[in-house]
Amino acid sequence: MDVKHTTELPGGAPRARRARWPRAIACAGVVLAAFLLLSSGRVRLGCSSRHASKPSADAASCPQANPLVPKATGALWSELAALHTTPAFLARAVAQLSAAVKIPTETFDDMGPVGEDARWASHAPFVEHLAQAFPLVHQKLALQKVNTYGLIYTWQGSDATLKPLLLMGHYDVVPVAPLSVDQWTYPPYSGHFDGESVWGRGSSDDKSGVIGILTSIEVLLEKNFAPTRTVVLSFGFDEEVGGYQGAGYLGPALLERFGPDSFAMVVDEGSGYTDAFGAVFASPGIAEKGYVNVNVEVQTPGGHSSVPPAHTSIGILAAMIVHLEAHAPVPVLALGTPAFEMATCFGAHGPEMPHHLKRAISRAGKSEKARRRAEEMLLEDRMFRAVVGTTQAVDIVHGGVKSNALPEQAVAVVNHRIATQSSVNATITRDTELLLGLAARFNLSVSAYGQQLTPAEGAYGSLTLSTPLTLEPAPITPSDAAPFRLLAGTIRTAFQTARNGTQDVVVAPGMMTGNTDTRFNWALSQHIFRYGHDNQIGGNLHGIHTVNEHMSASNFVEMIIFFTTLILNADEAAL
Ligand SMILES: *[C@@H]1O[C@H](CO)[C@@H](O)[C@H](O)[C@H]1NC(C)=O
Ligand SMILES: *[C@@H]1O[C@H](CO)[C@@H](O)[C@H](O)[C@H]1NC(C)=O
Ligand SMILES: *[C@@H]1O[C@H](CO)[C@@H](O)[C@H](O)[C@H]1NC(C)=O
Repeated sequence: MDVKHTTELPGGAPRARRARWPRAIACAGVVLAAFLLLSSGRVRLGCSSRHASKPSADAASCPQANPLVPKATGALWSELAALHTTPAFLARAVAQLSAAVKIPTETFDDMGPVGEDARWASHAPFVEHLAQAFPLVHQKLALQKVNTYGLIYTWQGSDATLKPLLLMGHYDVVPVAPLSVDQWTYPPYSGHFDGESVWGRGSSDDKSGVIGILTSIEVLLEKNFAPTRTVVLSFGFDEEVGGYQGAGYLGPALLERFGPDSFAMVVDEGSGYTDAFGAVFASPGIAEKGYVNVNVEVQTPGGHSSVPPAHTSIGILAAMIVHLEAHAPVPVLALGTPAFEMATCFGAHGPEMPHHLKRAISRAGKSEKARRRAEEMLLEDRMFRAVVGTTQAVDIVHGGVKSNALPEQAVAVVNHRIATQSSVNATITRDTELLLGLAARFNLSVSAYGQQLTPAEGAYGSLTLSTPLTLEPAPITPSDAAPFRLLAGTIRTAFQTARNGTQDVVVAPGMMTGNTDTRFNWALSQHIFRYGHDNQIGGNLHGIHTVNEHMSASNFVEMIIFFTTLILNADEAAL
């Protein structure tokens, strides 16, 4: 999960005990499933339980797929489920994860391309290790290396007419801050197992995904399973710094080999499951917000500061920043958006959601007044606002070089995270329109994104808007289609299997505030999910991106059950 897109984790804000918003998860957003960001008790949720309504009241508004086990390979699945829940298998899984954590594969923001920057060499031992640790995978699957360290494994199915299943992950890790090393209970690359968890950087994000997938397949191969549907694995190696060297090459390589819309479904790292409103919810990410940095540059004539104009370029830029902040985009909780779908599921299946919120959500489709009431309550939470709407933050400002010289230039960088129902164009056009009036007032010509909007001739100075980096919001994965139902049924089966059927999980569509490596794979499938079957009940984030990252052994085994069930279910489903 890319740290630059990670919403900060909420602090220990007081929470209403009976109607608890789940805490943030990492992630991707990283991944962050939208509602999992709803953290604080500031939302008006503090009503007592006597107002809580029955979860079944409008359960139909968020239908649940039945738990799904494979039929054709039912005997194999049962055998594996029994095997996976033995102490011996837990020890084997722990040993695999621990060995992978012991090989540091850090990536840094300032890394140059593969072949130029020597630091990528740290990845080579990890790739060699995989070949030793998963002998059958390396014997039976075809391995294609892309840009040296990107890994595509192809497990050829017997029926080439079926669209393959694509499982993704990344094996690079966030660097351990040197000053934080002594805050780790166990050294960050020890892979220490304390009887409960494997400790170390990458144990969760995302070596649990990569090693979990490979362990599932190694065991399936030991049982002589041969897939009908081709399974493709794509493992990136620089997701934490944007994925440009890894997934940025893997995506095009997959597209060239398989073509557009060629995969039945794609599952990458992402959110997991956590508790909210008295139930456990799993929330596969079906969307990701977009991203744009707008550079706002004001240029005016220089000169000696003893004879100044009324406004220097710094003063003009300041007025523009004030204007932008005074007119920040207003988030709208629109019907039919992933955030609204998720709210609907919490309302439908969370017995402890306050009655007035539940009512407003369930009526929102018919009554604009109810929609607004739900919106107002939900958007009181800053985290949820950020998930729903286009955000804006002035993050960088530069201007001036000398105390006695008028600044010829002043620049601000405005970072936007774009709402799923908006676009890069709508976002940057809005900024331009907001600033046109001020530019005229200060007698500046305007050039926006390479287009001269007002003439430079006869103006005192200029305003230039540009953007070095844009990303559209991801296409939204349908939650009413067969791949979502297959994933949801698989999640319920894995969850229940790991608990002997004593507990259940609700599956609700989730949303990302940030981005995973999937952004390079949009063309490959309409059914892209960001989901890791990570147990985040109680707000446990396993120390992702910080000290004491760890992975509970039982959760890791459950992930392996999830991947195994997913592969077997997808193998026989009509997708
Ligand atoms: C961008 O948005 C503006 C305003 O909504 C519209 O007029 C323009 O045609 C759009 N441009 C592109 C390239 O979509
Ligand atoms: C704008 O600036 C130019 C150049 O300094 C000047 O000639 C012109 O009179 C100014 N226009 C207004 C409306 O102030
Ligand atoms: C599930 O059942 C098995 C065997 O009956 C038992 O050993 C195990 O502890 C149980 N697991 C859970 C999570 O209840």
